[in-house]
Amino acid sequence: MHVISFITQKGGSGKTTLAINCAIEAERRGKRVLLLDMDPQGSAESWYLDREQETPALARIAARELEPAISAARERGFDHVLIDTPGRDDAATAAAVRASDFIIIPCRPTPGDMKATPPTVATVRRLNKQACFVLTQTPPRGGRIREAETGLSMLGMVSPVRIVLRTAYQDAQGAGLGVAEYEPQGKAAQEVAQLWTWITRKMEKLHHEPQAHIA
Ligand SMILES: Nc1ncnc2c1ncn2[C@@H]1O[C@H](COP(=O)(O)OP(=O)(O)OP(=O)(O)O)[C@@H](O)[C@H]1O
Ligand SMILES: [Mg+2]
Repeated sequence: MHVISFITQKGGSGKTTLAINCAIEAERRGKRVLLLDMDPQGSAESWYLDREQETPALARIAARELEPAISAARERGFDHVLIDTPGRDDAATAAAVRASDFIIIPCRPTPGDMKATPPTVATVRRLNKQACFVLTQTPPRGGRIREAETGLSMLGMVSPVRIVLRTAYQDAQGAGLGVAEYEPQGKAAQEVAQLWTWITRKMEKLHHEPQAHIA
């Protein structure tokens, strides 16, 4: 079972959106997924309540409930536990990093988001975990993306797949869906699929090279 957290202290950078869409993508590939919502805002839970489908499973938990929730998920045969965390550094963030095999740090290509990443990177390093940045809400192309990639690559691994700013993410979320369900042939669905492929391959590779931590 893989435990993957979506973490950054910058509000609105795309943690919940990525967690939800990666969960749907993993399910489409036949995996059993548990989403854990550790954010008191409960955005993932509110998406789940709008949803007609029963899966992925979702539980809203506090930091002290994380370990038991992961043990229960293991016993019940889940393939992945994806953890959505709050946009600030608190007990939930540290607990999620500690429990994770891999950490996704969403980051918009903006100075504000870039400046917010060091505390997350510091926690990841302190706990000796593997992580990568995913650029989110990007323009379709352009120098801004390249500049952000260059800046982030000095701190650690950057996903080559980016998540572009697209209304499909907002509309799908409002309908209790992932983009792959909302617009299966759309560009958002395509990039989420590519991102999930890259993440799963990277996790498998890092599993065999345990020293390859975030730089
Ligand atoms: N790629 C995208 N394209 C368009 N809108 C997006 C994209 N990603 C996220 N959004 C929208 O931006 C807003 C913030 O995204 P999200 O809730 O995923 O961020 P977050 O990091 O979880 O925020 P918080 O820190 O408040 O929990 C939401 O309204 C979401 O629908
Ligand atoms: Mg959120």
